[in-house]
Amino acid sequence: MMKLLITGICGFVGSTLARSLLAAQPGITIYGIDNFSRPGSESNRIELQNLGIKLYHGDIRAQADFEPLPKVDWVIDAAANPSVLAGIDGRTSSRQLVEHNLLGTINILEYCKRCAAGFILISTSRVYSIAPLAKAAVEPCGEAFRLVPGQPLPAGLSSNGVSELFSTTPPVSLYGSTKIASELLALEYGESFSFPVWINRCGVLAGAGQFGRPDQGIFAFWINSWLRRKPLAYIGFGGNGYQVRDALHPRDLVPLLIKQTSAGTGDATRIVNLGGGAANAMSLAELSSWCRERSGSHQVSSTPESRRFDIPWLVMDCSLAKEIWGWEPQTGISAILEEIASHAEANPAWLELSGIG
Ligand SMILES: NC(=O)c1ccc[n+]([C@@H]2O[C@H](COP(=O)([O-])OP(=O)(O)OC[C@H]3O[C@@H](n4cnc5c(N)ncnc54)[C@H](O)[C@@H]3O)[C@@H](O)[C@H]2O)c1
Repeated sequence: MMKLLITGICGFVGSTLARSLLAAQPGITIYGIDNFSRPGSESNRIELQNLGIKLYHGDIRAQADFEPLPKVDWVIDAAANPSVLAGIDGRTSSRQLVEHNLLGTINILEYCKRCAAGFILISTSRVYSIAPLAKAAVEPCGEAFRLVPGQPLPAGLSSNGVSELFSTTPPVSLYGSTKIASELLALEYGESFSFPVWINRCGVLAGAGQFGRPDQGIFAFWINSWLRRKPLAYIGFGGNGYQVRDALHPRDLVPLLIKQTSAGTGDATRIVNLGGGAANAMSLAELSSWCRERSGSHQVSSTPESRRFDIPWLVMDCSLAKEIWGWEPQTGISAILEEIASHAEANPAWLELSGIG
């Protein structure tokens, strides 16, 4: 039976994948490594250990921390600083970001080379060029932006979202560039040392247990803040909260990951987009309406000026993943939001645990 290492296993995505993979494939052996740099990640440690997962407290930036790890068949890389503002927000330096997200990947790839293990990168929609995305004309439709119909759009952009054909020319944010550099190195290592590599470019991931930070877990942050009547603000694009994102539950990745870990090297499309898609997209203003209906009223303030790297409409077109892998998201956005809200009710100190004080 397969032996698998998940990096960043105590983070939101890593822990969700570990639980869901174990549920889907009970015979699988899962190991995990995490440096617990994400506030709140410690809270997953005991539960994962109780599931029989062997956890290593280690840092993927340090080669020596790979020495105690056993030989595995596959690695899923979910250890990174996932904030689009990382490196420029004064909280994380650019060097720290690059060391976590790129040097860390290189160390994992060297480990895969030693073990002859396959590698799956949890990459991001943030590898796509910001300028053409920001330039596409949008208009309000109810409480949400949509692409203005009939406009000439760049290759890879349509009302279904951004496809793999969309430009990845910088600027894509420092975060996005560490991920696309990781993608390139992974593909090159896989080719040079004959191990399989899959690149899964995910849009916004959301669900219960996501640490509620505005720069990384916007749905969890918004719902938790709304429930506790903490300050919320619509930032940018006129300050109406019409900016749109789609949401995907990370457990919906599991059927794809199972197929990928059964596939080998050779000619194949190695990069796919994965996201909730247009059917699971929502604006912040719509999210507020959902919160209002579920939990009563709350005031949201407004800052019309946009922040760097902000994009008014970002939805993933996942038709390639459907075509190649038969993959589609399973969890609708209402179920995702309800799951987050129930979790928020059960965990009243979730924002504090997530490092928001
Ligand atoms: N959250 C999203 O919406 C989203 C979207 C697309 C892609 N991703 C990708 O998914 C992955 C996981 O994101 P997440 O939302 O679970 O973030 P997270 O912060 O919840 O989890 C990341 C985990 O990695 C650990 N970690 C960070 N640096 C490490 C290091 N140097 N060594 C060991 N462990 C380290 C952290 O402690 C944390 O537990 C990232 O690679 C991110 O780029 C996330």
